[in-house]
Amino acid sequence: MIFGQDKYTKIAIFLHWVVGLLVLSLIALGIYMHDIPKGDPDRAFFFNLHKSIGVTVGLLMLIRLWWRRKNLPPALPNSIPGWQRRLSKLSHGLLYGVLIVMPVIGFAASQFTKYGVTYFGLFKISPMGSNNPEIRDWLQSIHHDLSYVIMGLIAIHILAAMYHWIVLRDGIIRRMLP
Ligand code: HEM
Ligand code: HEM
Repeated sequence: MIFGQDKYTKIAIFLHWVVGLLVLSLIALGIYMHDIPKGDPDRAFFFNLHKSIGVTVGLLMLIRLWWRRKNLPPALPNSIPGWQRRLSKLSHGLLYGVLIVMPVIGFAASQFTKYGVTYFGLFKISPMGSNNPEIRDWLQSIHHDLSYVIMGLIAIHILAAMYHWIVLRDGIIRRMLP
């Protein structure tokens, strides 16, 4: 049994789990919201909750990216073959990409509605664009398609983590545990 020598920094671990939980809640909310009919009094509440959490994830990802540039992840143990290193790098890179692009697209779509974003009921980020359903629908369809990409990536990611934890028992999981 060979253990990963090192861990991610405390801040990287904190951001991983906070963003992870928020993104799972965004997916659940997104799917739930989709079926709330227009005119239902709950609709605005759930839409604004999703938008507020989504904007928060976008901001946390910017901090995370900045932190990661200054604190590179610990080197993988030598037991991990080259193809797995490349796959891990690729899947983490794609996760970072989609975790930044999704909030940007969602936020951009909200800029072409008359609602904008009411951030956790505290203040309103008024839309910068005009009320343009065509642009909004186009951006929202990208947001929708990307939601399948992110769900697929997360499923692969969690399965890989479980494989390392339960089958290989190589200590990879402990690199991301507090
Ligand atoms: C990482 C961040 C985000 C994730 C993972 C995410 C995920 C999702 C998912 C899974 C859906 C349901 C799929 C669909 O109905 O199209 C959805 C819908 C939606 N998202 Fe997001 N979202 C994120 C950020 C945002 C942001 C920042 C905003 C706006 C400020 C936003 C606005 C919306 C809206 C308005 C819908 C509903 C579309 C509709 O049903 O008409 N999202 N999101
Ligand atoms: C049960 C849930 C999860 C487990 C057990 C888990 C586990 C891990 C582990 C062990 C690592 C470090 C891999 C390494 O040492 O190379 C990691 C990295 C990462 N995880 Fe997760 N994860 C989970 C959920 C999530 C979710 C929901 C997301 C996305 C929203 C996510 C995004 C990431 C990203 C982007 C990295 C790369 C971090 C970096 O290199 O800066 N994880 N995860």
